[in-house]
Amino acid sequence: MSTERPDKPPFLGFGLGLRPQHYSEILDGDPEIDWFEVISDNYMIPGGQPLRMLDRIRERYPVVMHGVSLSIASTAPLDMDYLQSLKALAERVQPKWISDHLCWTGVHGVNLHDLLPIPYTKEALDHVVDRISQVQDFLGRRLTIENVSSYVSFGQSEMTEWEFVTEVAERADCWLLFDVNNVYVSAFNHGFSAQDFLNGVPRDRVVQFHVAGHSHEESHIIDTHDHPVCDEVWDLYRHTVKHFGPVSTMIERDDNIPPLAELVEELNHARAIASEILGLPHVAAAE
Ligand SMILES: [Fe+2]
Repeated sequence: MSTERPDKPPFLGFGLGLRPQHYSEILDGDPEIDWFEVISDNYMIPGGQPLRMLDRIRERYPVVMHGVSLSIASTAPLDMDYLQSLKALAERVQPKWISDHLCWTGVHGVNLHDLLPIPYTKEALDHVVDRISQVQDFLGRRLTIENVSSYVSFGQSEMTEWEFVTEVAERADCWLLFDVNNVYVSAFNHGFSAQDFLNGVPRDRVVQFHVAGHSHEESHIIDTHDHPVCDEVWDLYRHTVKHFGPVSTMIERDDNIPPLAELVEELNHARAIASEILGLPHVAAAE
């Protein structure tokens, strides 16, 4: 389980989600950011300023693509138009990997723009594995699948979330994006151990971490991505780095977007934690 796969994508270092508010600052300056994650869905319309900016940023930085509308667990047929656009964007951007979420986002042509949870059953597992395999065959490359945060669980579930995630990765032969904040949020909301989740995921499948902020509502946590990362999530990030070793790490901020310098500061905090744990003076990135 701990043996490195020869075809595993490289450790890129410490990155940020590319947000339009920061285009000029990135292009005009030289911020201490090793790579960027772009929201695939925002760059699927041919032409226009976002794609032009992306092309320029791509010339300077490694890029990974992150989607929110694949709806891999839905019972609706795969959206082949969406997949065609995704493939075309990937050919243009040449991302290090392409990720989306272990969730569904709608049926009957309706996109609810929410990452909805699924029951962890053998039937759902077969369904998701089959769909990931179809998408991978179409794209001609492996997908990277991210664990989501959730607020409800299903009485029908036959296994834990981490057992489900592991089975998906092994059977579909895909990579994993381990969202540290999502594990923290779901562990709190459902009362499971975040450490059990961490220990239950195969190390050789994880190619990226997300670290993000959330909103604590006392009885439950909402995964808002609009706050700085809290101490508890930084603690879990420490355990995560100890367990998985060097994995490309990203601060994921989707709302209340602060100036770039603030996010770089948070990113440097992640860099410092990882460098200390991995016993390196500075964690170097690979292109
Ligand atoms: Fe995430």
